[in-house]
Amino acid sequence: MINGKKVLFSGMQATGNLTLGNYLGALKNWVTLSDEYECFYSVVDMHSITIRQDPATLRQRARKLLTIYIAAGLDPKVNCLYYQSHVSGHAELSWILSCFTYMGELNRMTQFKDKAARHGDNINAGLFTYPVLMAADILLYQADVVPVGIDQKQHLELTRDIAERFNNLYGDVFTVPEPYIGKVGAKIMSLQDPSKKMSKSDENPNGSIYLLDDADTVIRKCKKAVTDSEGVILYREEQPGVKNLIDIYSACMGKTPEDVVREFDGRGYGDFKMAVGEAVVSVLKPLQEEVARLESDKAFVDLIIRENAEKASYHAAKTLRKVQKKVGFPVRIP
Ligand code: TRP
Repeated sequence: MINGKKVLFSGMQATGNLTLGNYLGALKNWVTLSDEYECFYSVVDMHSITIRQDPATLRQRARKLLTIYIAAGLDPKVNCLYYQSHVSGHAELSWILSCFTYMGELNRMTQFKDKAARHGDNINAGLFTYPVLMAADILLYQADVVPVGIDQKQHLELTRDIAERFNNLYGDVFTVPEPYIGKVGAKIMSLQDPSKKMSKSDENPNGSIYLLDDADTVIRKCKKAVTDSEGVILYREEQPGVKNLIDIYSACMGKTPEDVVREFDGRGYGDFKMAVGEAVVSVLKPLQEEVARLESDKAFVDLIIRENAEKASYHAAKTLRKVQKKVGFPVRIP
């Protein structure tokens, strides 16, 4: 508990450009959570270097992501928005927790297996211990809840196992986090292959709408979206492409899928795709304007970065000192 509120932690990687899927599925919903929870939203740049990155690009994207957090409506005075690499406690706790995590557990992580297969030339130890760093992120702030997508569920389960193992040995040190089950965001699929999630790392740029795509690009991608030959706008599994477009339109317009089906009854795919494109633009345009405004106010963003890193470090240090003491490290002489 911080300030009488439960604690919520989540993070995003600054690798690749954020997509409409990241926004509608996660970020947009984060904004509503700060009334109920004390929220920590990290730009997890330390996780990013498990895959080789160009340093200048990583730095630029991390800054962009933090700016997008603010532009999306996360108030930086209320939510703690910070870079993981600015708080040394993440690395320190990660080391300790790695001594309480088994090789066998990490070997079972499906994301590790996937990534190792995709990056065969760079299967580094960090890629393997990635879930331990993620556990440290969460446990460092004694988070009660963690909103994560399905692809991160296994990592959260492992986090709970590590926390419980540690608590069994040393008493109640860590809050055991729960996955956040609330109003879940829309799950947005690729525009080119509606069986796949819309992804930052899609090789086909037409599959994803990026948050910073301009209006023409958004409209063009929507027009090219894969549909089917049914010719009717219905919300059902047999028409995954149309269903995805309905999800996008309803999330952007704040309508239910049923409303959308009614609204477009008897209309053609061409009209509908155009309307989807316009709906997306109506959401992205104000967000992009706010990103541009924040980018021109460097001093303000710098101040946010500094203050929030201090706030995060303060809470991180509290947990870290407790853990260091429990495992037997000598106490610091003040
Ligand atoms: N691994 C997460 C992802 O790629 C990002 C992440 C890192 C995270 N640490 C976290 C998410 C802690 C939730 C909580 O999506």
